Amino acid sequence: MEEQRYAIVTGGNRGIGLEICRQLASNGVYVILTSRNQSRGEEAVEKLNVSGLSNVVFHQLDINDPSSIACLAGFVQTRFGKLDILINNAAELGIIIHDDKEFRDGGGFWFHNEKLKAELQDIDNLTEERIDEIIQWFLSDFKANKLQKNGWPLTVSAYKVSKAVLNAYTRLMARKYENILVNCVHPGYVITDMTSQTGLITMEEGAKSPVMAALLPDNGPSGVYFNKTQIAPFSSTVMPST
Ligand SMILES: NC(=O)c1ccc[n+]([C@@H]2O[C@H](COP(=O)([O-])OP(=O)(O)OC[C@H]3O[C@@H](n4cnc5c(N)ncnc54)[C@H](OP(=O)(O)O)[C@@H]3O)[C@@H](O)[C@H]2O)c1
Repeated sequence: MEEQRYAIVTGGNRGIGLEICRQLASNGVYVILTSRNQSRGEEAVEKLNVSGLSNVVFHQLDINDPSSIACLAGFVQTRFGKLDILINNAAELGIIIHDDKEFRDGGGFWFHNEKLKAELQDIDNLTEERIDEIIQWFLSDFKANKLQKNGWPLTVSAYKVSKAVLNAYTRLMARKYENILVNCVHPGYVITDMTSQTGLITMEEGAKSPVMAALLPDNGPSGVYFNKTQIAPFSSTVMPST
């Protein structure tokens, strides 16, 4: 008999995260659906349980709160003793979309600062400390109104920068932990609250690629970027991912 696998999904109460929970549970994975808000999370689990998926439980998680992260880690350790899959799905766009064209086309996902772009792609020399410095640099430029001067993205800036550094960080983690698979996924432009329901594909379609990446066999690729279900070069895709 196959060993039971356990998965945490962050931001599992709605959108692509909720659908990822549904698809993983349908594949026999035991899912810890997390949400920063207790009642929204419990409601989401109830929905899945009622639909016949009893292998989904709730635990609170606010990814910005270290004590909440520690509490979840303790819960998983005590209750299950292991974790097989972590889907780092939770995110905020930070703006409300009025004109979806630029977001849909991926327009402006590039940094204009070529040096920084090259640095983020130079995975052999990039470090966690340097990533932290880049984030601090961005925050400081944001506050000082220096985004244009230093070549940061000018629209949806925080979201794009956070995803670009997350992509770089993913590759660092893949290099550091050779015994696990660590990958990025761009799910496509999905009809969710984040896109003000302007997406081009359904949540069911959007969840397919993160679920595919989560269920890769042990000898699958690591440190790669999936554009939907296809491996794509990082260099051409400083784009949003889960
Ligand atoms: N939709 C797209 O077209 C698209 C395209 C590319 C990438 N993505 C990525 O796919 C992922 C899911 O997107 P989505 O469209 O499903 O977004 P969504 O509908 O806006 O849902 C976002 C989820 O993240 C949760 N969240 C936000 N901040 C959190 C925090 N600090 N702690 C815990 N949970 C938090 C939200 O919880 P609350 O309900 O409490 O707010 C919600 O459950 C994101 O990483 C996004 O960047 C989406």
